[in-house]
Amino acid sequence: MVRSFLRDTDLTPAEAAEVFELAHRYKKLRPAGVLDALRGQSWGLVFFKKSTRTRLSFEAGIYELGGHPMVLQADDLQISRGETVEDTAKIFGRFLHGIVVRTFEQDMVDTFAKYSGLPVVNALTDLLHPCQSYTDMFTMIEHFGKGSEDPECIRGKKFAFFGDTACNMAYSLALAGSMFGVDVALCGPEEFRPGRELDVLFDSAGLEKRYSFTSDPREAADGADVFYTDVWVSMGKESEKAERIKTMSPYQVNEKLVALGSKDSIFMHCLPAHSGEEVTEGVLRSEKSIVFDQAENRLHVQKAIVSWLVNKNRSLA
Ligand code: CP
Ligand code: NVA
Repeated sequence: MVRSFLRDTDLTPAEAAEVFELAHRYKKLRPAGVLDALRGQSWGLVFFKKSTRTRLSFEAGIYELGGHPMVLQADDLQISRGETVEDTAKIFGRFLHGIVVRTFEQDMVDTFAKYSGLPVVNALTDLLHPCQSYTDMFTMIEHFGKGSEDPECIRGKKFAFFGDTACNMAYSLALAGSMFGVDVALCGPEEFRPGRELDVLFDSAGLEKRYSFTSDPREAADGADVFYTDVWVSMGKESEKAERIKTMSPYQVNEKLVALGSKDSIFMHCLPAHSGEEVTEGVLRSEKSIVFDQAENRLHVQKAIVSWLVNKNRSLA
């Protein structure tokens, strides 16, 4: 069975720690130039949704590992004219060595993995964004560990996510946070509270839940070490824009809310940010904000995920 990265829980916490160790190494090694972990390999990067960070970091990252990244916008593939995902995956399997997919349904990334016979990486679905949540845990380790690189340094940290708690980022952060012993408070309106599918993800992985839900922003902010938010209107939800902005506005991360957190708290956001909506310009640009370190780390962590999968699959072959 080929190993893929479709859900945060596809790696055990010990395996995720191996990925982070590798990511620390890649970050330090970057000035040394192109590596050969993916020499001779072509990877397809398929996008059914827009992207800036994910596309740049995967395309640069696969090149830097010595591989050949092929960016494929879904509209350019026969899939947009009705070819099935199953047949597309089988065709990819005949030409390529790995696939990165950004799409709507989680089922599509699962189908790519099932029929291609290749390692597949989930680069965001409506359900999950595990490359981002792993990067966020790595960035927290970097920040709170102050050079130690030990994942234990984030255990017990109070992590507060505000806004749409039924979105891909909220779910992936609840899962990845629980893997590393982080206490994740998901805070948002009742109408956008996490659905049963999040508990199903925990239960099917046998992962202990370390997340809670509250609709009271003061409760979630109280003593928080990390303030995190994401756009209120995720890709694909544009028709609900007005309603979402109205319902979520009490959950904006602003100066008053951050003042309730710990003195050394930090602000994180997966980006793109909609300044003035989910976060104020003041918080986004404050000294507490580590959003651009977070964005840069996508490169190092995804290089580590891809090369970890390649090595693991070699050893299983
Ligand atoms: N955070 C993130 O995935 O950004 P993009 O949508 O720009 O890829
Ligand atoms: N929740 C957002 C994340 C963007 C990186 C979306 O799905 O659009």
